[in-house]
Amino acid sequence: MRVAILVSGRGSNMEAILKAKESGHIPEGEIAMVLSNKKDAPALDKARNFGVKTVFVDQKPFKGNREGYDSEVLRVLRENNIEFIVLAGFMRILSPVLLDAYINRIINIHPALLPSFPGLHSQKQALDYGVKVSGCTVHFVDKGVDTGPIILQAVVPVFSEDDEDSLSERILKYEHRLLPRALDLATRGRLRVRGRRVLVDDEIPEVQYHVLENDKRES
Ligand code: GRF
Repeated sequence: MRVAILVSGRGSNMEAILKAKESGHIPEGEIAMVLSNKKDAPALDKARNFGVKTVFVDQKPFKGNREGYDSEVLRVLRENNIEFIVLAGFMRILSPVLLDAYINRIINIHPALLPSFPGLHSQKQALDYGVKVSGCTVHFVDKGVDTGPIILQAVVPVFSEDDEDSLSERILKYEHRLLPRALDLATRGRLRVRGRRVLVDDEIPEVQYHVLENDKRES
């Protein structure tokens, strides 16, 4: 299955996918292209280092015209025979132009346990709310903001010493495991969407609760 990864920034999740691909963990997915809405996104250089085709689609000419921009993205995706899309830090809300063309074929990684703390700055939202656990979610993308059917989640503890950076860093480690794994499941046809529920047909537990040794509070 030909996959495009859409990015806007650093690209650490994209890199996790490319590494997983290199080490044989996504056998049925071909990472055919990385597309960015930001010309200077560090993700683009990283992708080139992996020998992956990169495309920059400028959003400036489409100010206030979400459908126009998405139509241009769709044109590029179709030109490259893309069948599946991963949003990996792509900082745009998708319009029906893309959603309708790729129904249940777009996934996103979000750094919180949805449906809690959708939108931006979710790690700060979680800290400010005072939750004791947070984590990350891979979900299918629908027309809402971070509202689509949930594929996989991982849980991490929140410690009283945490600030936004330390919590983000702890969550990110799990993002890097979860997103490649969800892509592998999707490209191997192991996900079935039933309303809001995504049935995962695989041997590894769907919900993964990990506490790394390093994350444990020093006593
Ligand atoms: C990640 O925290 C992801 O969950 C969120 O945006 C961030 C992107 O980071 N959607 P990176 O570009 O993958 O390093």
